[in-house]
Amino acid sequence: MFSDVDAAALYDVLNPWDPDGWDGDRFYDELVRGADSVLDVGCGTGAMLHWAREHGHGGRLVGLDPDVASLDRARRRGDIEWVEGRAVDAPGGAGFALATMTGHAFQCLVTDEELRASLPAVRAALRPGGRFAFETRHPQARAWEQWNPSNAGDVDAGGRALRVWHEVESVLDGVVTFRETTAEPDGTVLRVDRDSLRFLDVAALDGFLAEAGFEVEARYGDWNRGPITATSREIVTIARRR
Ligand SMILES: C[S@@+](CC[C@H](N)C(=O)[O-])C[C@H]1O[C@@H](n2cnc3c(N)ncnc32)[C@H](O)[C@@H]1O
Repeated sequence: MFSDVDAAALYDVLNPWDPDGWDGDRFYDELVRGADSVLDVGCGTGAMLHWAREHGHGGRLVGLDPDVASLDRARRRGDIEWVEGRAVDAPGGAGFALATMTGHAFQCLVTDEELRASLPAVRAALRPGGRFAFETRHPQARAWEQWNPSNAGDVDAGGRALRVWHEVESVLDGVVTFRETTAEPDGTVLRVDRDSLRFLDVAALDGFLAEAGFEVEARYGDWNRGPITATSREIVTIARRR
């Protein structure tokens, strides 16, 4: 009733890439423009790299994602390399100047095992001194408490009216498991996706980074490069390959 192709298109409606209007997108856009080669891990529909190419980035741009429908949308631009795979499949020895995980894609690395396999793979895709930029929601802000049906949103997906809401199933050891429901405006359910996201605190995150051979070059609590405070909702990290 609502295919993977439809879901990928809806993602772009809900999450348009707009460095001119959104601080988080501008943060990454500046890093991408300053790097001669970029690997976007968990690139989804590829909007960040599309924007970069469209706005004059002339270097190597590679998007990596396990979701076939999202990659198919990404492939609408043929002047960027698109690779099907997870972070653990990042191309070793490729010498990228920058790797990114935007849109909280980092939180898709749920288990310790996946973090321990993925971070060294991303590191190996970078040149010595290369940077890995990503953000993860700060657990102190308990973002998942907003993920409930009372916050359902009405969406116009290219002329089709939809209603989208979230419901949390469990919060266990820093892993939040939830369902996303896409429905007709009257509530008729079209599709339910179930997902889990990891919420790491700063100390645990830095432990995984150090173990994988990264040092933290910069750490912010918001998209304007402010420090982490007791009310920060994000942990924004620029890590450097040692
Ligand atoms: C919320 S989307 C973010 C997409 C895009 N980066 C953005 O900023 O809009 C998370 C993406 O991470 C991808 N993903 C899930 N598990 C992954 C993994 N282990 N390694 C890399 N990407 C993964 C998903 O397929 C999805 O496209």
